[in-house]
Order: sequence, then structure tokens, then C-alpha cells
Amino acid sequence: MDWGMQNRLSRIFKAADGHTVMLAVDHGYFLGPTHRLEEPRTTIAPLLPFADALMLTRGVLRTSVEATRDVPIVLRVSGGSTIVGADLANETITTSIRDAVRLNASALALSVFIGSDYEHQTLANLARLVDRGEAAGIPVLAVTAVGKELEKRDARYLALCCRVAAELGAHFVKTYHCDGFEDVVAACPVPVVIAGGPKLETELDALRLAYRAIQEGASGVDMGRNVWQGDHPVPMMRALRAVVHESAKPQEAHELFLELQHRPQSQPA
Ligand code: R5P
Repeated sequence: MDWGMQNRLSRIFKAADGHTVMLAVDHGYFLGPTHRLEEPRTTIAPLLPFADALMLTRGVLRTSVEATRDVPIVLRVSGGSTIVGADLANETITTSIRDAVRLNASALALSVFIGSDYEHQTLANLARLVDRGEAAGIPVLAVTAVGKELEKRDARYLALCCRVAAELGAHFVKTYHCDGFEDVVAACPVPVVIAGGPKLETELDALRLAYRAIQEGASGVDMGRNVWQGDHPVPMMRALRAVVHESAKPQEAHELFLELQHRPQSQPA
């Protein structure tokens, strides 16, 4: 792997444990003003100090994040369909590699919709993006998207998706946790991070999800709604960090979450 590619990946995956806590705030690219992400700047700013990387579109990056912030950017570069359109899977590459370089992206993120009517198109998008990323030294994150069909999230399907994405050259893959997740990770020769999915009932549920994923081989989490749709996003982000980087058990991390609610946000642990 070329030096630039390695260097960018090492900004996202921390050297001490090879893990990452990414903050996903790219939802607006197909959902519009998602609940509690209506004003991206307001949602993102307090969480930035606790994110190993920030996943978002160029529009939100340019308008809502200070260029002086030292956080690796995982730039969402696929899109073109919305939740109110005909088919969420009908995506194209929405950002040029030149613009990604201009934005100093540490990685490029693109969704593939395997098994959908747009399977071929989105896999061809991935292959094209990997070619461009390789030329520029920028790694590619493939997101195994399911659109509205959340029931698709089982190990057999997700293992196929992750493996195909890796075979096409993705440098890391984002998918969902599922029963049999170890098999998904084992069959995927590149690091796997998990999405949180829709907001779970409690923070403890989300911490359990992250814990299981890490125990079963995930290299990190790339969570959004389970962080910023809760009432205490900063304590939740810090509790997630404890699970991912400090091997905290869900209950321990949850105790930290409860304790941090009573501290000023800027106060260190
Ligand atoms: C969805 O396609 C977006 O890429 C999100 O980044 C992803 O789903 C992770 O966010 P959440 O944890 O809210 O599912």
C-alpha cells in the first residue's frame, strides 16, 4: 500500500488498537433534515473532539465544519436519490476526486446496494471510485446499504456484500451488526466497521451493539442516530469510545454515560 494511502488510513484507525470511532452525519444526503441533524453545525460541533473521523458530504463539510479542525474526513461521495424518490439504490458518484483532494479527504465513502435493481450500477460506481482513490492515494469505504429493507440484514447477505466490496477494492467496509457477525468479518479481508442503524430504545442497547461488534471482530463503529438522536450525545460518544478503545463492558460504559451527564461537556474524564 502506498505511503499516502497508509497515512490516511492511520488517521482514521488509531495505531494503539487499530480501532476507530467514526461519527456519521451524512444522513441528509438522502433524508434531508434528519431529526436532530436539522442544523448540522450545532449537532457536529460538540461531538468533534470525541470523533476519530467524521463522515459527511462536501456540502455539510464546507458549510458546517471549521477548516481549522483537525479531524479526518470520510467524504460521502455517492448519492443522487432520496427517501421520497423512486428508488434509494439509484446512486451515482456525486463528487470528483479533484474536489475530494481539495477537501483533504482522508477517505471516500460510497454505498453499494447489492441485490437491488441497481446492484450493477452501484458496484460499477465502487470499482470506478477505487480506481480514482488508488490514483490519488485516498482509501475507499464501501457502505453495504439496504435502503428501506432493514430486514435484509442477516449474516449470509452481509457477508456476501462485504466480501464483494472488498474484492472490488474497497479499503474498508461499513455494514450492520447481525447474528453470526464473526463470519461476516472472517470472510472480509479488509477492516469492517458497523453502522448503528435507527435509534435503539436505550443507550445501553447501542453500547451492547458496539461491544458485541468489537468482540466479534469489528474494527470500529461509524454511528450517527444512536449518538445524536439521544438526549446526551457527548456522554454517548464518550461511552462508545470506552467500548471501542478501552474494552469497556456495556454496563461499565453505560455507567460512564450516566456519570458524564452531570459533568460539563468540556471536562475531561
Ligand atoms: C446511511 O447510509 C448513512 O451512510 C449513515 O452514515 C449510516 O447509516 C450510519 O449512521 P447510523 O448509525 O445512523 O445508521
